[in-house]
Amino acid sequence: MFFELGLALAALHFGVPLGYYAVAKRWLRRDWGIREDGGYRPKVSVIIPTYNEAEHIAQRLENVAQSYPRDKLEVVVVDGASTDGTAEIAEKWAEKAGVDVKVVREERREGKAKSLNRALGLATGEVVVIADADALWAPDALRRAVAKLADPSVGAVSCVKRPIGGPGIEEGYRGFYNALRVAESKAWSTPIFHGELAAFKREALEAVGGFPTDIGADDSHAATLIALRGLRAIVADDVLCMETVPEEGYHAWRIRRAQHLIQHFAKAVPLLRKAPRPFRAVLAAEAYLHLVNPWLLLTAVALLLASAFMGNILATAFLGTGALMLLYKPYRTWIVAQIYLVAASVRNLRTKEIVWNKQIKRGRRRC
Ligand code: GDD
Ligand code: MN
Repeated sequence: MFFELGLALAALHFGVPLGYYAVAKRWLRRDWGIREDGGYRPKVSVIIPTYNEAEHIAQRLENVAQSYPRDKLEVVVVDGASTDGTAEIAEKWAEKAGVDVKVVREERREGKAKSLNRALGLATGEVVVIADADALWAPDALRRAVAKLADPSVGAVSCVKRPIGGPGIEEGYRGFYNALRVAESKAWSTPIFHGELAAFKREALEAVGGFPTDIGADDSHAATLIALRGLRAIVADDVLCMETVPEEGYHAWRIRRAQHLIQHFAKAVPLLRKAPRPFRAVLAAEAYLHLVNPWLLLTAVALLLASAFMGNILATAFLGTGALMLLYKPYRTWIVAQIYLVAASVRNLRTKEIVWNKQIKRGRRRC
């Protein structure tokens, strides 16, 4: 009985995502169905939220300043009471930059989303772009994102990410998820955005009330709300960001990000029935993969273990094979992601990590 149930849950755990990826592969071959305009030049407000980014902020400002015509660019650095001189560095940079840079200093650190909303209130651009301080954009990333926003059906555009530094597992994981986000976007929209570059039509962002402050994945949730209202929210494969991966505290970093995604999907599920048709399937699948599927694996392993202890040889063989397969990297990457998701759900019961500890990032940074 334990054995059969364990097997059925394991089959479901691996079968549903495999089925979903088979569908996603077909989506990946589709056309975008978007009319881009490389000459579209709206005024752009780039918001850089910072907390103790002294090491990164100057290079990041330089990177942003080179990404768009300066007369159409406004930068708002919103600093959450850094203690390492980040705001001073940004202010100094602003004095001689020849770019419109505002530096907002908050008295207390209250989390990234609140800062974003504060900056949104000051931003005057038609397009608002979130740019995490510890990331870098490819030189044409912003222009390519803006070109897509020229299409009236597109409300928000985010990037694919290339990891810099960190353990090898991060690269395999990234390549896979980049492709998945692009596939979902081609189908219509993706519910997962990246704060390294998240570009929004300002009007669309304001229509959903700005960034939610009660959950961590503010960027993904705002994009999802925009998609629920009928505009596309896409991750584009020609919009590239480099993100620094922590060398220390990697697990804590992955678990915190998973916590935020879980919060985002838990908040999005009740809205599912409002989703436009092609987005409903994507949102339902991703919510299932983040909220439910990891638990099926855990339960399956527990049941098979119980069955093996009771002398079921098939159960032992099954678990042995599952353990051996950990030598195969894609499988190992998958299992590790499931462990992060389970750990994150448990941790969410204790803290939502709306204000989080800074990870130490020593990755090499190159554009
Ligand atoms: N103003 C302000 N206040 N900025 C903050 C705060 C804060 O309390 N906390 C972090 N930041 C800034 C950081 O300085 C960085 O520029 C950006 O917000 C993202 O923070 P990181 O510490 O680099 O987090 P991450 O790389 O793991 O964040 C990713 O995942 C988050 C969700 O878990 C990004 O995609 C984020 O955009 C996303 O919210
Ligand atoms: Mn970061």
